[in-house]
Parts: sequence; structure tokens; C-alpha cells
Amino acid sequence: MADAASEETLDNLLREDREFPPDPAFTAQAVGTADLYDQADADRETFWADQARERLTWSTDFTQTLDWSEAPFAKWYADGRLNAAYNCVDRHVEAGHGDRVALHFVGEPGDTRDITYAELLDQVKRAANVLLESGVSKGDRVAIYLPMVPEAVVAMLACARIGAPHSVVFGGFSADALRSRIADAEAKVVITADGGFRRGKPSGLKPAVDEAVADSPSVLKVLVVKRTEQDVAWNDDKDVWWHEALEAASAEHTAEPMEAEHPLFILYTSGTTGKPKGILHTTGGYLTQAAYTNAVVHDVHPESDVYWCSADVGWVTGHTYIVYGPLANGATQVLYEGTPDTPHQGRWWEIIEKYKVSIFYTAPTAIRTCMKWGKDIPEKFDLSSLRVLGSVGEPINPEAWVWYRQVIGGGKTPVVDTWWQTETGAIMISALPGVTALKPGSAQIAVPGISVDVVDEQGNSVDNGHGGYLIIDKPWPSMLRGIWGDPERFKETYWSRFEGIYFAGDGAKKDEQGNIWVLGRVDDVMNVSGHRLSTTEIESALVSHPKVAEAAVVGATDATTGQAVCAFVILRGDAVQEADEPGEGEDLVAELRNHVAKEIGAIAKPRQILVVAELPKTRSGKIMRRLLRDVAENREVGDVTTLADSSVMDLIQQGLAKPA
Ligand code: WTA
Repeated sequence: MADAASEETLDNLLREDREFPPDPAFTAQAVGTADLYDQADADRETFWADQARERLTWSTDFTQTLDWSEAPFAKWYADGRLNAAYNCVDRHVEAGHGDRVALHFVGEPGDTRDITYAELLDQVKRAANVLLESGVSKGDRVAIYLPMVPEAVVAMLACARIGAPHSVVFGGFSADALRSRIADAEAKVVITADGGFRRGKPSGLKPAVDEAVADSPSVLKVLVVKRTEQDVAWNDDKDVWWHEALEAASAEHTAEPMEAEHPLFILYTSGTTGKPKGILHTTGGYLTQAAYTNAVVHDVHPESDVYWCSADVGWVTGHTYIVYGPLANGATQVLYEGTPDTPHQGRWWEIIEKYKVSIFYTAPTAIRTCMKWGKDIPEKFDLSSLRVLGSVGEPINPEAWVWYRQVIGGGKTPVVDTWWQTETGAIMISALPGVTALKPGSAQIAVPGISVDVVDEQGNSVDNGHGGYLIIDKPWPSMLRGIWGDPERFKETYWSRFEGIYFAGDGAKKDEQGNIWVLGRVDDVMNVSGHRLSTTEIESALVSHPKVAEAAVVGATDATTGQAVCAFVILRGDAVQEADEPGEGEDLVAELRNHVAKEIGAIAKPRQILVVAELPKTRSGKIMRRLLRDVAENREVGDVTTLADSSVMDLIQQGLAKPA
């Protein structure tokens, strides 16, 4: 944490004194109010009970809001019952909003589809019946491996409807990564597609599923959405076309109320070890905080807004702020399949103009990329419908924040920087638009009902103006309920560092007004373009290659992607000589990068792989990544006195100085 580079960046940040007070016209219509802070402070549990009852429809009301008697395993609203899919779809149709568009789908090739809440309901009911017919019962797990198409939303809601926890696996993950996630959750059904469109081309998904499922004894059926019409291999025993099954299925299905603590989904995320953690979320508390934060932080007025969150449903942002939050609130949203620069760099802004998007939520890395492309591109489009902008996934530097507000938001929209994690389930720290005076670069303060702090090594709250570790000191409704199949790891990872307090893994600093500035991870987790990657997981992937003896991975600061993966590898004997042959070194690096893509997914490919003779280790054998980060970031190497052999760093640097 006391890392020289981040201290320096932070000091620059804290000199940032621009402040943007709320516009009174915005405040007059805002969903969030200053009042919420007082209500939550007066009685937190009553506040959360009110949110749950106001925002959701319960088939059985609850009598106890929070049961923390088995901490850190929380129970929220435990004796209440509700169905998440009913809350996201049926009740809006019952309330007369069946004709409201739920999803404006935009395919990358330019095809579009508007799906109303009534149509969504029909699809979800049919899909629920298909899952039941495929042998899925309440409590069974379903893996979802789909591109950004409406069927992904339908599939998730169909699972929720029958109480089958879904495990969505990002479509960019490899067959191996998919296989290990299917195995960990013992998924009974996999929902996938022939492929999706990305960067102007169809890319396959089914081949990865075929590879994964061949070794997955738990899988009974594979439901395949037809998207690209590519040829796919077909296994008559398992494979079923989604559209045929849905058409044949009954359109009648009554949502079954679930216990509030019934598992809603598992979502795998990277931790500090090589094995991804299955983060478990349950129904009532998760949905309450998803709906509440989407309403007050994004200022959603479902009858008039068009909302767009550019995340992928494979990440938690897509779960909470594409599927559960906005749909529970009955919002109309855009769902876009592709990348921001296909077929041209104005694609996003064209979509905003066309659908008159009023709320836009994206990641800083995307904003920085658009800055690089230049403001002339967004300036060609009419973006005047926008009234709220949000940011998530990594710290947003003040320059990007100000550019976002000026160029995209026409100099008038609030920009909310929202801090949260897969584990927290929903937004924890953010300004409220219309309420908070905004400070570019700072996530600012906990949302009403949430209690966070910055503490020192001993767990004591630091004074304003000081830095330390970001923690959450009171349970919250959408908190993770554990790690799938590993309660000990849950306690150990999050609750053992400070007694009874949730350790987020991020470093942070409080400014003189008490605003929180999140600095980034203090553990072995990297953040590349807002994607969470584990250094250890990539190291294991590299070491599984026959030519690699040892590997160390660090996240080096990158102006666009936040961090970039840099790997240092020691080769095995034969490979060393081979790599020394002219031209062979480059081939080897390409081979290793592809190997990582195969093991984990293309997002984990190292930007840089450096072949070295030694790695810097402490006397106890721990790799000193701090020193490698200095090398990767072209900085003078820091203190080497704890190294077992202090000449190693000289060796590494000399090796790097050698012409390739
Ligand atoms: C980082 C994404 C600074 C942080 C929702 C956290 C942020 C990790 C912010 C979680 C933000 C997320 N400012 N850092 N506004 N939002 N992070 O699980 O390091 O993919 O711990 O959840 O992203 O990543 P995850």
C-alpha cells in the first residue's frame, strides 16, 4: 500500500479542488434526497426494511430485517418470501406497463429488436418451463455462457423464476475456465449460443462449450441460442436449440416465491489465489440494494428515462445494473452486443442519439479510450438527452471525469463515480446526483444505509487527510453470503484481517472533507480495463506451459487500461537455448500469450512477457512483485535489502537491456 507510485498519484489527486454543486433543477426532480442520510442514520435497520418493502413486492412479508447472530454469515429479511423474476417482470405487466420497452437490443451488425415487458414475460415463462423440462429443479445450478443478447437476460430471469442459481461465465473466458466453473458449481444445464458478433465478425462460443462439456459429468443439457448461424457440432443427446424449445414450451408459468435467503446466483471472480472464487448472492437483500441504488444513484425515472449500462452481463455490473436493478425498477434500457468502435468510433454516441439515452453508466477505461479518439467523434452526435453519467470498475482520474462531463454530458450532467465489488453486490460508495457536490476523482461517500471507513494497519479509523485500507464495518443487504463450497475461505479472505470487519482489498484515503479516494488493490488482484484478474491465476497458467519453469505477474500502471498485465518468466533448460536463437524469442512470447488466452481467456493475455534468468525473492521465498512493478513501469528499483540475493535485480535489468 505504501507504494511510492500510488502515493504520488494520490497527492496529485488530492490537489484536485474542482467541485460541481448540484443544479437546483436537477435536485427538484431527483429520486435521491438528503433526507435518506438522516433516515438511515436514525435507524439503519428500519431504513433497509423500508427500502425492501417500498421497492419490492413480497409474497410473504418479513418480521426480522437482519440476523447477524452467525456473523459473518448474514441473513436479511429471512422469513420473507419473494420471487426475483416476478419483481423484475410480472409485476410491471400486472401494473399495466406491459407495453413499455424493457430492452432496446442493438446487435453489433446493426440488427435491432425492441422487447416490451409483456414480451419479456412470455419469454421468461417459456424458458422457465424449458429449464424444468431439462431436469433443473429449485436449488440446481445453471451455467450461462452467452454474448450480450436479450436471451442472456431471459436466461438469468428464468433461472431466478424457478430458484435455480445461475452462474454466468463471461463469453470471453476460455473452454478451460468455463469447465472449471461448471465443475465447481456442478451445473446441470449450460445455456450458450452458436456465437456472437464482435469487432465486425462472428465469433464462436459453442466450440468452447463442447470442449468444456465433454469433461463435465454434471451437465445434462446444453441449450443453444442461434445468433450468428455459424455451423456448430451437434450432440443429439445433450444439445437443444433454444428457439425450438421455447416455441414448444408452455407460456404458462407461475413464479414460485423463494425464501429471501435462497441463492440467486454464483459469480466467479478473481482472488489472490489461482482458483477463482464463486461469490454467492441471495435473493431479498441483493434485490433490495440493487433496486435502491439503481434508483437513487442513477436517478432512474422508469416512465421517462432510457438507461444504458455498457457492461457485459458476464460481470457483476451487468448482473446488478443491467438485469436486476433496472428491471426491478421497471426501466427501459439499451442492451448493446458489441464494441464501442465497430463499425466506427462513434457507435456508442450514435446509439445514445438514436434511443435518446438519458442515463449512461460505463467504465473509466472506455472514457479514456474515447478521449484518445478525440472529442470530434462524440461532437458529431446529439447527446442532449443525457442527464446522468456514471462510472464504475476502477478509479476515474479527474481529467477523464471532467472530459466525460464536458464532452459527453454537455457540461451539465452529474457524473457519479461508484465504488463497489462483486462481493458487495451493489453500489456502496457514490455521490447522489442532485444531492452531493461532486468532486472529480473521488468516489466520495457511502450511500445512505451503508457504513464504510478507512483504517490503519491496526484497524483504527484514520483521520481526514490520511490513507489506509478500505473497510465496511456494518453488514449490508446485498453482501455476499459466502464463497460457493468454501465457508472457511470466505472468513479468511474478508473477515480475518480486522476482527468483525469486512476487508475490501482496496487502499483508500480520506480528504479533508472526509471524501473517500479509492487507490486500487492492495492484494494480488489486478484491474485491467475494469476487469478483475488475479496475478496468481495468470502465473499458474504460464507455469502450466511446458517451456516455463517459473513466472511472476504484476499489474503495471497503464494510461488507458488502468493496469496492464506484465509477466516475468524463467524458462526451462531447453527452452532457454531455443529462445536465444535469432527470432525465436518473439515466437515464444507469442506462444506464451496464446497459452494464457487458452487457459483463462483473451482478457488475461499479458501485454508484455519478459524472459529473465532469476526472480527477486525474499529469504522466505516470496516473490517481491513490488520490485518487478518498478521494472515494468520503468522506475528506479526500490529497496532491495529484503531480497535473498540482491544482485538479482541487476541481472534482470541487464537482461532487459540486451537487444532482442
Ligand atoms: C475496483 C466491479 C475505484 C476496486 C463493480 C474493487 C473501483 C474492484 C471502483 C472490484 C471505483 C470498482 N473506484 N476502484 N469507482 N469500482 N473498483 O469485483 O479495486 O469486478 O475492489 O466489481 O474494482 O471489481 P469487481
